[in-house]
Amino acid sequence: MRILVTGGAGFIGSEFVRMTLQEHPEDSVVVLDKLTYAGNPRNLDAVRDDPRFRFVRGDIADAEMVDELCGACDVVVNFAAESHVDRSLEAPGQFIQTDVFGTWVLLEAARRAGHQRFLHVSTDEVYGHVATGRSVEGDPLRPRSPYSASKAGGEMQVWAYRASYGFPAIITRGSNTYGHHQYPEKIIPLFITNAIDDLPLPVYGDGSAVRDYIHVEDHCRGIDAALRRGTPGEDYNVGQGGDEVSGVEVARAVLDLLGKPASLLNFVSDRPGHDRRYALDCSRLRALGWEPRWSFTAGLEATVRWYSAGQDWWRPLKSGDFWDFYKRNYRPLEPV
Ligand code: NAD
Ligand code: DAU
Repeated sequence: MRILVTGGAGFIGSEFVRMTLQEHPEDSVVVLDKLTYAGNPRNLDAVRDDPRFRFVRGDIADAEMVDELCGACDVVVNFAAESHVDRSLEAPGQFIQTDVFGTWVLLEAARRAGHQRFLHVSTDEVYGHVATGRSVEGDPLRPRSPYSASKAGGEMQVWAYRASYGFPAIITRGSNTYGHHQYPEKIIPLFITNAIDDLPLPVYGDGSAVRDYIHVEDHCRGIDAALRRGTPGEDYNVGQGGDEVSGVEVARAVLDLLGKPASLLNFVSDRPGHDRRYALDCSRLRALGWEPRWSFTAGLEATVRWYSAGQDWWRPLKSGDFWDFYKRNYRPLEPV
């Protein structure tokens, strides 16, 4: 397959590119990435000299460029998105532009190029807060943040192309992903890098909201399974499906692994509309022969080791704009 990987310079997309070129010698990859603050060319260093790899800087909303690239590829795997909930609360417009409009541009180009597969990477956040039980793929979508609404909007475009044109698209809905090469704004890399520098770890509210954390390698193997063995027209949940871990548990585990004091815990004002829990039933993907390999304990330990050893990767990212956003986003806990 000649695979167009959009957003391939980001956290999960770059792991998917490395994994594809390593495990599928017959495939080639073109990455299309706008290189926003979250895109990092260094994430692709390991494959830069591979003759089966090509990098193109550009926007998935640029129809002319996307048409040309789809014409030269067989399949699109769409990772490109604005991906951070807190940033979507501050400035939702770019989320709609990329996650909804950009997805439509890709669908239209791939349909006209006659692609027989299209994989759209979505998120468990489209189900909204899940009080009990686990979300299955047929559950209604109830997004609650501008980010998850933009991801649900992208999914709606995919649904429309399936129904209206019989377009053979697959959607994966991944859970909260962590591991190497993650921009240090999401909870795990933020807490690890802050703790290394003896800075406070800002835990939202009372720290009891839980997530189903999945290691990036397991998430990418799940996307690969859905792409190669999934049924066009189906949606697939991709989650660890195991321990539910709260924000304060993440913070304590990071501090323990780095030998740092509990005094670095810093409870701050909660995220508006904070979804308290997501939980996925992943039986459909497991039926394709996929299962996660990393436990949260082993995955977190490996991730702490990676950020400790690779400070030259993340230190340049924690400067300028990063701290401007940080100062705007985090507020002291409101008195009750
Ligand atoms: P990320 O923010 O690390 O990377 C996103 C990449 O997309 C960046 O390289 C960025 O430059 C690129 N990009 C953004 N807008 C673009 C545009 N208009 N055109 C081309 N490229 C553009 O995100 P991530 O964490 O790697 O997430 C990848 C995908 O997986 C997203 O679609 C996200 O919604 C989804 N997802 C993420 C998680 C998670 O926990 N991180 C979980 C489930 C699903
Ligand atoms: O669930 C999948 C989603 O996971 C993806 O679709 C998103 O792209 C990805 O960003 C992630 O969203 P979350 O909002 O769950 O991730 P985040 O790391 O921002 O927050 C995880 C939990 O930690 C959440 O309960 C909020 C809390 N948190 C987060 C940050 C950044 C804190 O307590 N403090 C923080 O500083």
